[in-house]
Amino acid sequence: MPHRLQGRRPLIEPEAGARSVRVWDAPTRIVHWAIALLIPWSWWTATHDQLGRHRASGYVLLGLLLFRLIWGVAGSETARFGRFVKGPRAIGRYLRGDDPAPLGHSPLGALSVVAMLLALAAQIGLGLFAIDEDALEEGPLAHLVSFDSARWAAGLHHKVFWVVVALAVLHIAAILFYRVVRRRRLVGAMITGRTRWEGAAPAMAPWWRAALVAAVAAAVAWFVANGGRIQLLPVLPVAAGDGEGDRA
Ligand code: HEM
Ligand code: HEM
Repeated sequence: MPHRLQGRRPLIEPEAGARSVRVWDAPTRIVHWAIALLIPWSWWTATHDQLGRHRASGYVLLGLLLFRLIWGVAGSETARFGRFVKGPRAIGRYLRGDDPAPLGHSPLGALSVVAMLLALAAQIGLGLFAIDEDALEEGPLAHLVSFDSARWAAGLHHKVFWVVVALAVLHIAAILFYRVVRRRRLVGAMITGRTRWEGAAPAMAPWWRAALVAAVAAAVAWFVANGGRIQLLPVLPVAAGDGEGDRA
């Protein structure tokens, strides 16, 4: 049982011999804070009858989510899913204190990261197909499905929103727990990108790769926002209502 031999190590930031290292690259931080701002904005615009802005916010969220998913396989070491998403045994060892807290997401934190990204993907995906009861407002892909299916998507879009909210509340509560009980300051690192760490600094992806991934994510989001059509002009609110006549 080699892990037991390591003994119980406190789950606090190592201080002795620790130096400042970059833990989160700029793209991961920008995507994080943009998502954290756009979720309340999406809610506000949807509940204040500003569906044009709501859709625009959703398209940006779609681009950010696509970026984060690709960055999870092509990005910096601490952003890669393969590095931080672990099985139940690793989570158990971490919870028992047999394995020390790694640099970046812990095996338990990884679960909440995956849950939040999945819930957000579901929320955005459902929004793309949603239509309101008067068929006045719709997502850009609603024209691909029947009215009943689009209403079903809208119903789920309303429900999954609360799953997103619940996960975000849990996420912020967990960060507070780490701050108060475990004495770990996680927020500073998500702002500055740096933390104190005694081991080797993780490998960071070059900026040009982030630019390439951003271009791909933006292109796919643009294509989807255009209802799956190649269209060079932006989808203005007027154009967004074009499909309404077809349904009436
Ligand atoms: C591309 C992304 C999105 C699109 C195209 C979209 C589209 C829509 C549409 C067409 C409706 C009206 C449906 C109806 O009235 O039944 C709606 C409602 C709503 N959306 Fe989205 N949405 C997107 C993303 C999001 C996101 C990311 C959130 C929040 C996390 C969100 C939260 C809501 C809420 C709370 C409502 C219900 C508002 C109400 O009736 O009170 N949406 N969305
Ligand atoms: C709607 C709100 C939020 C959502 C959906 C959200 C989502 C996420 C996601 C997906 C990650 C993983 C980052 C990555 O690997 O790309 C993350 C990490 C993180 N978030 Fe948030 N976040 C939200 C709000 C906040 C707020 C308000 C704070 C600060 C109080 C915060 C602080 C952090 C920190 C410190 C991490 C890194 C955790 C770690 O060290 O493992 N988040 N968040």
